[in-house]
Amino acid sequence: AGDPWKECFEVAVQLALRAGQIIKKALTEDKDVSTKTSAADLVTDTDHLVENLIISELRTQFPSHRFIAEESAASGSKCVLTAHPTWIIDPIDGTCNFVHRFPTVAVSIGFAVNQELEFGVIYHCTEERLYTGQRGRGAFCNGQRLWASRETDLSKALVLTEIGPKRDPATLKLFLSNMERLLHAKAHGVRVIGSSTLALCHLAAGAADAYYQFGLHCWDLAAATVIIREAGGIVIDTSGGPLDLMSCRVVAAGTREMAVLLAQSLQTIHCGRDDEE
Ligand code: IPD
Repeated sequence: AGDPWKECFEVAVQLALRAGQIIKKALTEDKDVSTKTSAADLVTDTDHLVENLIISELRTQFPSHRFIAEESAASGSKCVLTAHPTWIIDPIDGTCNFVHRFPTVAVSIGFAVNQELEFGVIYHCTEERLYTGQRGRGAFCNGQRLWASRETDLSKALVLTEIGPKRDPATLKLFLSNMERLLHAKAHGVRVIGSSTLALCHLAAGAADAYYQFGLHCWDLAAATVIIREAGGIVIDTSGGPLDLMSCRVVAAGTREMAVLLAQSLQTIHCGRDDEE
């Protein structure tokens, strides 16, 4: 069947590659760094530059489309997902890595219509790996088909998570106790690589068995969700129910069994919603 969003997808790929070159070059240069919601929530001049580039190009080509993007949200734009075609953008995912020259940084561009995710494009800027997923058309990395892990046993799992920017003592205590629970359940390992989107791409590629996070945003999750689902994986809410893109929480795994086991092991950390003030 014809793909009504083919042109949008192709433009997203070109923009992710262009943005990726800018980020790769800027990685080793001096940066102008500021903080947002906490001392660990960073933004640089490059985040702004890349977000403006991506949005202005997309607006020119698709003037009726809507946008949800990390730095626009930080400066007060509302995050509401309507039925309109909507781009959900993280210009640099892994900004803290970027600031420290730790080479795990990505551009993430997701696209939803009628509140359904249609495609996701994520570019690993330093390793030049392009991850894509289009609903009903599979997930790929540099042209190679991706398949998520078939593991169902938590005691055989490599689990990924991210700390998130909230660092008050109560949040940190819950974060560490969730990690402790997984280690008690004898997970093979728990990894924190500093980029939610790239961790989710590893999951899609079958390089890890499960992922969870409280406090991530819709722009960390939108593109990756399509890629994981098209790789045969599961993306759900931490309650075990359906994913709510605006709820700032997620469990993902190669299999439903693994996702449910992981969800049952976690204590909830309340991090608010993207569509509330
Ligand atoms: C953040 C990173 C980080 C995760 C946060 C994200 P940013 O994205 O992915 O690893 O813990 O939840 O918001 O700020 O670098 O785009």
